Amino acid sequence: MHKTYLTMDIRNLKNIKKHIFFCNGEACSLNGAAEVTKAIRQEIKKQGLHGCIHTTKTLCNSRCHDAAIVIVYPNNEWYKNMHPSDAQDFVQNVIINDKGFHKLLYKQGEDTIHSQSTITV
Ligand code: FES
Repeated sequence: MHKTYLTMDIRNLKNIKKHIFFCNGEACSLNGAAEVTKAIRQEIKKQGLHGCIHTTKTLCNSRCHDAAIVIVYPNNEWYKNMHPSDAQDFVQNVIINDKGFHKLLYKQGEDTIHSQSTITV
């Protein structure tokens, strides 16, 4: 049976180039995650990229000491200590130019975790 959703957008997934995850868990929220999320989403829209960049708020991503965390796929890049004032440089360097950003915590293919707060188990 076909369902009709009157209030939901139908997104063309073929246009999505990157997926940005904004940690909005407790620690990240205490470190401005809502403001980071809003600022980066506004910058994505301002740059006309909202049709090809998908964004999602998440619960805790287990890097609370590095809050606020932003994760970029398919790059598998994790960014730490994000602040709303980072939005413009982040969108320009990470999303548009694929050059990375100075708040890099981890990038797939690199051995280094760029953080003082490594977690031991
Ligand atoms: S709340 Fe964001 S990593 Fe834990």
